[in-house]
Amino acid sequence: MSLHRCWLLFVNLRVPEVLTGLDAPSLHLRLATAADLPDLARIHKEAYSSNHFTALLPNATLERYYGYFLGDGSEVLLAVQQVGDGAEAALGFAVYGQGIPERIALFKREASQDILMTSIRHPFSAFRKLTAALCSRLTAGAAHNPTDFLLLSIAVSHKGGGIGGRLLRAMLAGALKANVKTVGLYVNADNLNAINAYFAAGFALRDYRSGQFYMEANCE
Ligand SMILES: CC(C)(COP(=O)(O)OP(=O)(O)OC[C@H]1O[C@@H](n2cnc3c(N)ncnc32)[C@H](O)[C@@H]1OP(=O)(O)O)[C@@H](O)C(=O)NCCC(=O)NCCS
Repeated sequence: MSLHRCWLLFVNLRVPEVLTGLDAPSLHLRLATAADLPDLARIHKEAYSSNHFTALLPNATLERYYGYFLGDGSEVLLAVQQVGDGAEAALGFAVYGQGIPERIALFKREASQDILMTSIRHPFSAFRKLTAALCSRLTAGAAHNPTDFLLLSIAVSHKGGGIGGRLLRAMLAGALKANVKTVGLYVNADNLNAINAYFAAGFALRDYRSGQFYMEANCE
């Protein structure tokens, strides 16, 4: 599925010694390509706590996961900083678009063995994830109907530096240009940093189910 497929643009990436701030002219946003998948996996693992089941997946599986969102109606926006000699360092990303639940379902089917192995290695996390999924199904009838354009994931390697907010604003501006009226997302109710970032970008709470808020922002 949404393994997009890409403009295979080679970028030489390395971690910058100093984050010079968001106003630095060298920081910019661009669409990720398949060549960026290792950076997406690295940032994901740095940003998401090990409470998050996906952070326990091997890097190769995470790369495969994000590959499903590179194109065909969804995209990955990458924040990169020039670090000299034409090289750049990836500092954050946001994944969003249409058909997100279907892409996740396809990934789960096609990577079921990797997911099973991770569950066996981390039984407590797997049990928690399974319980949450079951609770979510049991209360499915009560939920607010989600919009079809969703933010799947956003993560930065240096929190609180303004990169997340910049990615969110760029996503909303891009959605508006594409005539999308509403962007939705799910967030764990205990993820206060993310919830604050979403409020700051104009999202509002629409629903709560099984430990997760569903939030929406109007693009207009
Ligand atoms: C959520 C996340 C992407 C935000 O990115 P960020 O670069 O840290 O966010 P920003 O610095 O742009 O801050 C945006 C807003 O978030 C809020 N915020 C950010 N960090 C905060 C903190 N530590 N405490 C309270 N509010 C915070 C502020 O309201 C801020 O708005 P302001 O700049 O107008 O004050 C980042 O915290 C992250 O990677 N978290 C781990 C991964 C994750 O949980 N993703 C969300 C999954 S649903």
